[in-house]
Amino acid sequence: MVKKGAFGDSWYFNHILSGKPLVFAEEPAGYVPGTVYDDGKIYGGYYTKDQIREMIAYAAERQIEIIPEIEIPGHNMALLHVHPEFFCTGEHKVNNVICPGQEEVFPFFEKVLKEVMDLFPTPYMHIGGDEAEKSNWAVCPLCQKRIADEQLKDVYELQSYCIRRVEKMVNACGKKLIGWDEILEGGLSDNATVMSWQGTEGGVEAIRMNHDVIMSPSTFYYLDFGQDAPYKEPIAFNAYLPLEVVYSYEPEEDIIAACGKDYDPSIMKHLQGLQGNLWTECIIRSDHFEYMLYPRSFAIAENAWSPKGSKNYPVFREKALAFIKRIQEEGYHTFDLASEVGHRPEADVPIPNLALGAKTTWRKGDKVETADMLVDGYLGDWTIRRDPKWKEFNGKEITLDIDLGECKDLHYIGVEYVDFRIRRFRLPDDAQFLVSEDGVNFVPVYTPKLRLSDDRSHYCILTFGGTVNVRARYVRLQFNKGPKKLRGYLSEVIIN
Ligand code: ACM
Ligand code: ZN
Repeated sequence: MVKKGAFGDSWYFNHILSGKPLVFAEEPAGYVPGTVYDDGKIYGGYYTKDQIREMIAYAAERQIEIIPEIEIPGHNMALLHVHPEFFCTGEHKVNNVICPGQEEVFPFFEKVLKEVMDLFPTPYMHIGGDEAEKSNWAVCPLCQKRIADEQLKDVYELQSYCIRRVEKMVNACGKKLIGWDEILEGGLSDNATVMSWQGTEGGVEAIRMNHDVIMSPSTFYYLDFGQDAPYKEPIAFNAYLPLEVVYSYEPEEDIIAACGKDYDPSIMKHLQGLQGNLWTECIIRSDHFEYMLYPRSFAIAENAWSPKGSKNYPVFREKALAFIKRIQEEGYHTFDLASEVGHRPEADVPIPNLALGAKTTWRKGDKVETADMLVDGYLGDWTIRRDPKWKEFNGKEITLDIDLGECKDLHYIGVEYVDFRIRRFRLPDDAQFLVSEDGVNFVPVYTPKLRLSDDRSHYCILTFGGTVNVRARYVRLQFNKGPKKLRGYLSEVIIN
């Protein structure tokens, strides 16, 4: 299995950027287990069981327990490469989800889980459960038969069926199951532990349902996100999660707020702990890994051991600066907290311009809404995700109309974008600005070509606009109508 599934034609992340599928490769001659193999043609690697035993012992000497994770039923591209018979029958749109309609997959996972549980002394087994996209199951006759035979409602209950079967295997070995939030879909057995990653609400709900929970919210604890102004940071999987935000997470406050007047302090026993996640799709070098880890992991540690209400960011920051210095002297590569830029300075002050407070109409196909954040004068901060300052666009045939209230002389029209290929942003090659005096008859005034960043793997803010010389009341931004669905974010329209 490892000989076939652990190597591919390049770093996985290159495939995210290029959109080309990963081509698996056989183990190259001379590969030394425990190392990363990368000769420019083949990339990959694995650990032997003896190396894992050595790692477990090394960690145990430092009071660290390693919990293994075997992903079920999604994130199984390597498994499906080696066992293509575990794919759903019929058309499969998704290439990493196994078919729970097939009986054979269960003894297979039982064997794998048993082997892994025998290796790791921890009482826990993490079985993943996250991001299993269900479109293959919806059309697979075997999955549909399983749904009918087991009297399940839908594919979500099929996921739950799958997790319950796996949980029996885990429990039969005397271990406790851990899984990501998605194991809550379609019902969950009482003694499973939820590792909550999709924001904070799912984990809080699970605690209220008396499940043990480890909080690992992507909104606070995903250390593969950038930690400072994106223009100066190495490649990151999402924008801006600075030290102060990581430090600010207060899980107990969320739980107390969600319980309201029903709050009973004994519920806190279900908050089992906190976890930072540093996924390595975009990280292949250890210096990059250390950079993302330090100092943000210090903040997670201090959060985990600090009683509620006892934290103090300025004090913590001083300690973090001292600790960074110390570990740098030991040879670690860390983020340079002392020269942190912090949040986007341009987002602090409003930009006076003619569009301020104008009436907006955002149309996507038949859907009509407003987009007032695009005319409030404020540019977006580095954070784009879940930030109401940015307007997401997703689809085709998108237009934005701005009504200035009366005819005015216009000399400049521009709009700000983010280009971020890692997030699979797909920007229009060009857009068009049109203007109108009556809101009915629009004439094109400017068709700028979008300047994409040279290295499209990086987060990059772009301005899309230029000079015009026209008198008008209405300004329309219209994306080109290419065959592809567009995806990205706008922050602000500036008209002068
Ligand atoms: C996750 O980030 N899919 C757990
Ligand atoms: Zn199936």
